[in-house]
Amino acid sequence: MAKVKSAYFCQSCGAQSPKWVGRCPACGEWNTYVEEIIEKEDKTSWNSTSTKVAQKPRHLKEITYNQEQRIITPDGELNRVLGGGIVPGSIVLIGGEPGIGKSTLMLQVALKLSKVKVLYVSGEESEQQIKMRAERIEVPSEACYILTETSTQNIFKQIEALQPDILIIDSIQTLHSAFIESAAGSISQVRECTAELLKYAKESGTPVFLIGHITKEGTLAGPKVLEHMVDTVLQFEGDRHLSYRILRTTKNRFGSTSELGIYEMSGEGLREVTNPSEILLSQRDEAISGIAIGATLEGNRPLLIEIQSLVSAATYGTPQRSSTGFDSKRLNMLLAVLEKRGGMRFGAQDVFLNIAGGLKVEDPALDMAVCVSLVSSFHDAIIPADICFAGEVGLGGEIRAVNRIEQRISEAEKLGFKHIFISKYNMKSLDQKRFTIRLHEVARLGEVFDNILQS
Ligand code: TYD
Ligand code: MG
Repeated sequence: MAKVKSAYFCQSCGAQSPKWVGRCPACGEWNTYVEEIIEKEDKTSWNSTSTKVAQKPRHLKEITYNQEQRIITPDGELNRVLGGGIVPGSIVLIGGEPGIGKSTLMLQVALKLSKVKVLYVSGEESEQQIKMRAERIEVPSEACYILTETSTQNIFKQIEALQPDILIIDSIQTLHSAFIESAAGSISQVRECTAELLKYAKESGTPVFLIGHITKEGTLAGPKVLEHMVDTVLQFEGDRHLSYRILRTTKNRFGSTSELGIYEMSGEGLREVTNPSEILLSQRDEAISGIAIGATLEGNRPLLIEIQSLVSAATYGTPQRSSTGFDSKRLNMLLAVLEKRGGMRFGAQDVFLNIAGGLKVEDPALDMAVCVSLVSSFHDAIIPADICFAGEVGLGGEIRAVNRIEQRISEAEKLGFKHIFISKYNMKSLDQKRFTIRLHEVARLGEVFDNILQS
């Protein structure tokens, strides 16, 4: 009989302690330690029959791999965020709030990969529910298998029989392993199940997708523990009231972490949005003040987004500062620059800033568009719709150069803009003859306003 042992685990970060503590020494959270029983036993999880040969060191030169091995899915957005397709033997975690569309996304990928044998394991929904969802998505598939099971040992038995090419687990918090006594969803269960799946992925070369929940209350195991174990972490986010969803990489051992995929939730599953600038620029018939277009980059992808602001006299006491999708500290900094260098009195004004389309952006190249939008609303002057901006604003009111300016200009040109304002310091390295769009070089914020507000 195995020895029964218990330990305390922080439900927030997964730290372990032999006795209860009020405050987690690892993450600093209060009252997060919960006792979990861990049964010590010889671990015989995935493929227990295989006799493990001790590995010898090999010279780096002897190790070969095949670049062509990545599985390219029919979903271009997913390929992009994964860094160019699915890497064999990789383990990918998809996190997101309940109801955002994680199950829909993975089922859709499983169905679209019609020639690849995919096993979709669900511990959350019945076979009938999954079938109903699959019918909504309406993609005929020949090789998608559904299994409703939560025990990892049983899952591995089915895997050995079916030999799938891709495994999808929905969700990791519903799995439980017989080697651990605590309840499904607890830190030690999540860790054990992930470790077993990791071993399976690495030994068989089968890519594994794990769906993970994020709840603010922390009743389910926090995904921080998982993040360390998996190769890639994708975050599925978006406003549940809007139909746009954004798939973001936050960790990727096989590619860049700044990639972005955009989807639209429709009645028939998720639709890829291949030209996001079109949805980010709001459709409007009449020109209004306070709107400026900025040329930004998300990962390798140029985007033109609309910045809207509203500046109005504050009627009650302290003026309000509110920004959606843009860093509020940066907004305050830009307001201070406009006030000090441009002599504009924002002190007694309410300022509201909004990035259209529900996107969150961090690119400093949007500074110039934000300033123009604020000033446009302040003076109630309309910015012509065929102008866009790409430049960082420094504390002295100077316009600084931004990276990959050519990509930004090309995107603006492609979308039919006639003028783009860029920093003077970006002009040197630029092959100006390539573009038909008119380039306006500026060195200071004042020059921008002189150019557009007087014309
Ligand atoms: P779901 O994938 O179940 O979310 P998660 O797995 O992240 O909890 O997505 C559920 C939402 O998506 C639900 O509100 C219904 C909506 N939906 C559509 O709008 N269209 C569709 O075709 C499908 C399948 C779902
Ligand atoms: Mg789900």
